[in-house]
Amino acid sequence: MTDSGQKQDKEGIRALLVDDEVDFRSTAAKRLNRRGIEVAQAGTGEECIGLLESGSDRVVVLDVKMPGMDGIETLGVIRERFPETEVILLTGHASARDGVEGIKKGAFDYLTKPIEFDHLLEKIRQAHDRRRRIKEKKREQEFRAKMEQQMIATERLAALGTLSTGVAHEINNPLAMMRESAGFMRLVLGKEEMAAVPRKSDLERGLDKIEKGIERIRRITHLLLGFVRQQDQRFSETRLKDLIEESLELVGREAKDKEITFVREMAGADGIIYSDPYQIRQVFINLLTNAVHAISRKGTITIGLHDKGEQVEFFIADTGDGIPRENMSKIFEPFFSTKSPDKGTGLGLYVTRGIVNKLGGDISLESKVGRGTTFRVILPKCQPGGSECTEDEDVCRDILQKIKEMKNDDSDTGQSSDR
Ligand SMILES: Nc1ncnc2c1ncn2[C@@H]1O[C@H](COP(=O)(O)OP(=O)(O)O)[C@@H](O)[C@H]1O
Ligand SMILES: [Mg+2]
Repeated sequence: MTDSGQKQDKEGIRALLVDDEVDFRSTAAKRLNRRGIEVAQAGTGEECIGLLESGSDRVVVLDVKMPGMDGIETLGVIRERFPETEVILLTGHASARDGVEGIKKGAFDYLTKPIEFDHLLEKIRQAHDRRRRIKEKKREQEFRAKMEQQMIATERLAALGTLSTGVAHEINNPLAMMRESAGFMRLVLGKEEMAAVPRKSDLERGLDKIEKGIERIRRITHLLLGFVRQQDQRFSETRLKDLIEESLELVGREAKDKEITFVREMAGADGIIYSDPYQIRQVFINLLTNAVHAISRKGTITIGLHDKGEQVEFFIADTGDGIPRENMSKIFEPFFSTKSPDKGTGLGLYVTRGIVNKLGGDISLESKVGRGTTFRVILPKCQPGGSECTEDEDVCRDILQKIKEMKNDDSDTGQSSDR
C-alpha cells in the first residue's frame, strides 16, 4: 500500500512550506529537496488549507506572521480539519510566545527565525516519523478490530451451523410422521362415508395448512441436512453440464409463470470433474432458484461453464433486481432472507458456500441494483483428500485422465453414480 518503511524514511518525506516570504521559501525548498524531501509551497494560510484539502498529506512548516490568515489561525483550521497533519511553526525572533501558544494548540514544535537549516531538516524528519508511527498504530488497531469482528462472525456462524443441523436431524423423524398422518387424514376425508361430515371443507382447509407447513419445514431440514451430508461425500465422475441441465429442469417449475430466457455459454465445455455430484447439484439448484426469484417478470438467466486447466469455473448471471449494498455482507448468513416465508428459508447461500468451500472451491459475486447479479464458482477438477480421492492428488489425476479417455471412446457417457 505504501512504500517500505525504509524507503519512506529516506525518500518518502513530503513537506509543505507555508510562508509569505518567497525568497525564504524557495531557498529552503531547494535545500530540502537536495536532502531528499519533496516540498510543496504555499504563500498564504488559505493556500495551505487548499492544498491539504486536495488530499496532500505532508508535514506543514508554517510561518506564524503572515498577512491574512496568520499561522496560529491556520494551525487552528488544520487541527480541526486535518487532525493527523503534523505542523512545525516558524516564529519571529521576538515572539517565542507564539511558538508556545502554537504547541498548546497542537503544533508538533516551533523553530525561531532565522532558521538553522539543519534544525529545520531534523524537525521535519521527526514530525514525519511521528506521523508514520501514528498511522501504523492506527492501521494495526483497525486490522485488529476487523479480525476480531471476523472471528466473532465466524464463530457465530459455526455455532449456528452446528445447532441448526442438529435440530434438523431431530426434526426429521417427527416430520415424516406428521406428513404421513396428514396424508392418511386426507385419505380418510376423501372416503365416501365422510362425504356428509359437517364442516368438511374447514377440515380440508386445515389439512392444507398443515401440509404447507410441513412442506416448508421439510425444505429447511432438507437443505440443512444436504449440508451435513458433506461428511460422507461420495466422489465420482461429475459432468457439470449434465447437472446444469438437470437443475434447470428442476427449477423450471419456479420459473413457469415468468418470461425467463435461459442462455447457455458453455463453449463446448462439459465440465468433467471428480467431485460430489449430489452436492454440486444442490449448488446449481440454489443459485438458479435465487436467480429465478430475482427476476420479477421478464428477464434472462445466463449459465456459463469454462474449463480452466486444473479448475472449472461456472457462473449464473441474472438480469434481476440485484442485491442492495447493505445486504451484501449478510446474504451468506444462515436464515437471512428478503423473501416471504413460503419462498425463502435464508439457507440457500449459506449451504451453497459451505458446499463450495468443502469441495475446495470458491464462490464470489457481483451485483448491481436494478441490473442483476452474477454468482461465480470455481471448483477444482480434483480435490486432494476427497473421500474416495485418497490423500494422493496423483490418484485423482489418473482417474480424471481415465475419465477423459473413456469419454473419447464413448462420447455418449452420461452422468454416472448418481444418487
Ligand atoms: N440472484 C440474486 N439476486 C438478488 N438477490 C439475491 C440473489 N441471490 C440471493 N439473493 C438475496 O440473498 C438472500 C439470501 O439468499 P438465500 O440464502 O438463497 O436465501 P433465500 O433464497 O431462501 O432467501 C435472498 O433472500 C436475496 O435477498
Ligand atoms: Mg435461495
